[in-house]
Amino acid sequence: MSDYNSGFDSANMFSIDGRRIPFKPGQTILQAALEAGVYIPHLCHHPDLKPHGSCKLCTVTVNGRNGSACTAKALPGLEVENDTPALNDRRRVLLQMLFVEGDHFCPGCEKSGNCQLQALAYDLEMVAPHFRHFFPKRTVDASHPDIWLDLNRCIMCELCVRASRDIDGKNVFMLAGRGADSQVVVNSPTGLLKDSALTADDAAAQICPVGAILHKRIGYSVPIGQRQFDDATIGHQVEYLARRHIPIKPVAVDAPKMPEKEGV
Ligand code: SF4
Ligand code: FES
Repeated sequence: MSDYNSGFDSANMFSIDGRRIPFKPGQTILQAALEAGVYIPHLCHHPDLKPHGSCKLCTVTVNGRNGSACTAKALPGLEVENDTPALNDRRRVLLQMLFVEGDHFCPGCEKSGNCQLQALAYDLEMVAPHFRHFFPKRTVDASHPDIWLDLNRCIMCELCVRASRDIDGKNVFMLAGRGADSQVVVNSPTGLLKDSALTADDAAAQICPVGAILHKRIGYSVPIGQRQFDDATIGHQVEYLARRHIPIKPVAVDAPKMPEKEGV
């Protein structure tokens, strides 16, 4: 048994696609899988935040029934299917729905190459959006000196909402509306980002997996070929980090350094 497995009680094992996965009591299937170097697609999971279960990309089959790996607890003897044609077909459909529901025109988005939605679509070989585009007209808020917000690219993962509330303690972002009309809003007297407590180094300003919350003055600064997902697929990167016990950063780009304001 490897060093990695030796820290686990041998009773605390389950399987994913036939591979034995150790887990610590209380861990979810997704947490145990990532620690063991098995990639389960996901968009709304963050290791520092409570599970949310909204994107459903992490849907796996557990003992014959489908469920979210980010909310289902790992239990001894579970038989989990993850990387199967049927599950990946459904994940592709979920991705296609996210692409048409928002305005994900990658050629004009500075997050391209560093975007988890785009990376996952490449991983799962999504070649066309398939559904009719919604062409939403949501707020673009460029009022903040360091951050801008294009909610047309929001996938409603609520990572910013949870990070602002649970990590930053600021409640800058909230969800408003119902059903197809729900969207992220800024919790400030004017509804504008400049009048909120958000600062560029807040977790909420770093955590967006897509191009909805962006830092100003650094767009397109990474050459093509050197962007996060240019070399290896998102799944391979997560598995590589997990095998080396390097914390998996769901944030696509390192916290950027803000240039001096003068002369910018
Ligand atoms: S703005 Fe980004 S982090 Fe916030 S809900 Fe939308 S996609 Fe998620
Ligand atoms: S990561 Fe499980 S539902 Fe989004």
